[in-house]
Amino acid sequence: MSGHDYTPTLSNAPFAFTAENEALAQKHVAKYPPGRQQSAVMPLLDIAQRQIGGWLTEPAIRYIAGFLGMPEIRVWEVASFYTMYNLQPIGRHHVQVCTTTPCWLRGSGDIVQACEKHLGIKVGETTADGMFTLKEVECLGACVNAPMMQIGDEYYEDLTPETAVKVLKQLAAGETPKPGTQSGRHTSEPAGGATTLTSINRPAE
Ligand code: FES
Repeated sequence: MSGHDYTPTLSNAPFAFTAENEALAQKHVAKYPPGRQQSAVMPLLDIAQRQIGGWLTEPAIRYIAGFLGMPEIRVWEVASFYTMYNLQPIGRHHVQVCTTTPCWLRGSGDIVQACEKHLGIKVGETTADGMFTLKEVECLGACVNAPMMQIGDEYYEDLTPETAVKVLKQLAAGETPKPGTQSGRHTSEPAGGATTLTSINRPAE
């Protein structure tokens, strides 16, 4: 289960890119040949989502369709397919726990449980104070450091239930947890340290 909610929340708040975001959107559009501007739909949805505060409103979808000259339904198709787009308001911190096979084999079920218990919510819900939304997502491409979760734009890896909760506590306290591995190993090296290429042997001249 991805935890993705496909039911849009209706909002009539009008939407238009800020001048800065419009310039950014035009930069993405300019990457594609004339007539192929629709290829920029994904980054434009991302820009709109960040501008709104983490989710996409119906007026924003319509705006992007008009911006790119494409049917609204095509923009909806993209926005409702990918879990990176939220069609409902989310909390300030969007906690996405990967539960695909490599993370699952390394204990992602315990990570989900620890987050649910600590936050007092179930997957798909938002805390009453609006601080955290918890989601389950499919592989985020960091399997080598499984299990992991993404919060905002950062990855937290090599998690245990304890370190996952520690990250949540730091965020709740307004701190900035260190992203990446939480186990102390260096990036994706073996947990016990490097076992190959440990010295530099230059060929004799
Ligand atoms: S399976 Fe979790 S990051 Fe790939």
